[in-house]
Amino acid sequence: MERTFIAIKPDGVQRGLAGEIISRFENKGFTLVGLKLMQVSKELAETHYAVHKERPFFAGLVEFITSGPVVAMVLEGDGVIAAARKLIGATNPLTAEPGTIRGDFGANIGRNIIHGSDAPETAQQEIALWFTEAELASWTPTLMPWIH
Ligand code: TYD
Repeated sequence: MERTFIAIKPDGVQRGLAGEIISRFENKGFTLVGLKLMQVSKELAETHYAVHKERPFFAGLVEFITSGPVVAMVLEGDGVIAAARKLIGATNPLTAEPGTIRGDFGANIGRNIIHGSDAPETAQQEIALWFTEAELASWTPTLMPWIH
């Protein structure tokens, strides 16, 4: 079963949007298999965003992600990686479609509320970076047959 990594960034947590955001994924029919509130270290932030390390926004991005607690989660379901990206919306909240998380709640590219893995390879890497195997549950909610 496909899994993706999602993180509600410090702006989303501090604005009290964590519950609403988690609900959107639950309501869609995806299964939470990992969930924790955590303070992100500089090292974790730099590793997570290593692909952007030469970009001008890198230092600010790392500073932002480490500025307050983050809600990290792993979601499971068929097609969850692409579907979660669709629910999240475009990187820039100003151009993200209304109805998406960034489109509904954001107004600044540097404060765009949420992260979601962009492909199977990055999902696998990010899940292993943020969660230990013991922190992930393997379960099938009894609701699933009604959704799928
Ligand atoms: P990116 O991986 O391109 O976007 P996404 O989060 O949609 O996968 O960029 C990572 C984060 O870097 C993005 O969520 C916000 C930040 N960022 C900026 O602050 N300025 C920028 O110009 C870009 C492209 C990204």
